[in-house]
Amino acid sequence: MADILKRPMSIKQVPHSRIATVDFNNIPFGRVFSDHMVVMDYEDGEWQAPQIIPYGNLTDMTPGTSVLHYGQAIFEGMKANRDENSDDVLLFRPEENGKRLYDSAVRMGIPPVPVDVFMECLKEVVKLDRQWVPDVPESALYIRPFIYGNDPFIGVKAAQRYKFVIFTCPVGPYYPYPVKVLISEKYVRAFPGGTGAVKAAGNYAATLYPASIAKAEGYDQILWTDGLEHKYVEEIGTMNVMFQIDGKFYTPKLDGTILPGITRKSVIQLLRDAGQEVIEKKVSVEEVINAHKNGTLQDMFGVGTAATITYISDIGFRGENYSLPPIEERTISQGIKAEMEGIKRGRKEDRYNWITRV
Ligand code: COI
Repeated sequence: MADILKRPMSIKQVPHSRIATVDFNNIPFGRVFSDHMVVMDYEDGEWQAPQIIPYGNLTDMTPGTSVLHYGQAIFEGMKANRDENSDDVLLFRPEENGKRLYDSAVRMGIPPVPVDVFMECLKEVVKLDRQWVPDVPESALYIRPFIYGNDPFIGVKAAQRYKFVIFTCPVGPYYPYPVKVLISEKYVRAFPGGTGAVKAAGNYAATLYPASIAKAEGYDQILWTDGLEHKYVEEIGTMNVMFQIDGKFYTPKLDGTILPGITRKSVIQLLRDAGQEVIEKKVSVEEVINAHKNGTLQDMFGVGTAATITYISDIGFRGENYSLPPIEERTISQGIKAEMEGIKRGRKEDRYNWITRV
């Protein structure tokens, strides 16, 4: 175990919880924050001891703080749910997030947080704020770990100081409705050799303007295509994408520009174990549109932590709209969604050891 965990973690609790002010039956995504957060500073060439403190402002930022200028920042998204059979709180595949945060850090020139330190911080803050885990169907405690360059310096170089933070928020569904996507042949989310395969904050910033154009055209999100030819679909920015065509499932293979989603990986495994064929390959826009035209595009959905499985209702491409079959007909992915949500809530057996109990 990393040296910084040898002493018990310092915990400063809030004098009064804000929980009584929260309407758990009506929580928007990402606007309500739990009582505590983890903070850990990187200084003098090493990560210092983590602390848990009341959720609040990060007061050591100045206008010259490096992340505000050059965006050296990475994050993760994960969820905790209540076990339906005990008082435990269940974390879904948290080490995977710890590993991905590590990989993101390496790519962005940030000193990585060891996965065991990440796990200890995570478990402590979830334990402390366990009352904030919603007991409402479709809701969860969303957990947002992140790291940013915290140097009071505006030269373009990797920072010498960083902050690692974990805060949590009770959330309802990210997309409470099926989503309409517009295929982009102009803008690019990621490029070979770029940062598309890690969770760099800037990846998301770059999508906001194109997404606003999609919105103006009546679509909720962009379905990104590859940066070289705009020929192959990549992901939907907030989630990976999967198709069911003529009975088989397809998803873009991880080629360095697509985020290696933990939900993506889990859904592939659940589908395969349910006897379905899942093919990870380059999926061309042409084959998706042709499948629609010849009636073999049976299902299309996004997969992600915040999104879980989010159905796509429409695809916009070159001025045409292609509507997908009604959700009721998409029985296989519905079964997989029920299975995955069941495992997350202790309703279904955790046969893959995906769950960490707190
Ligand atoms: C997640 O699914 O947790 C993500 O990080 C996507 C997000 C930008 C909402």
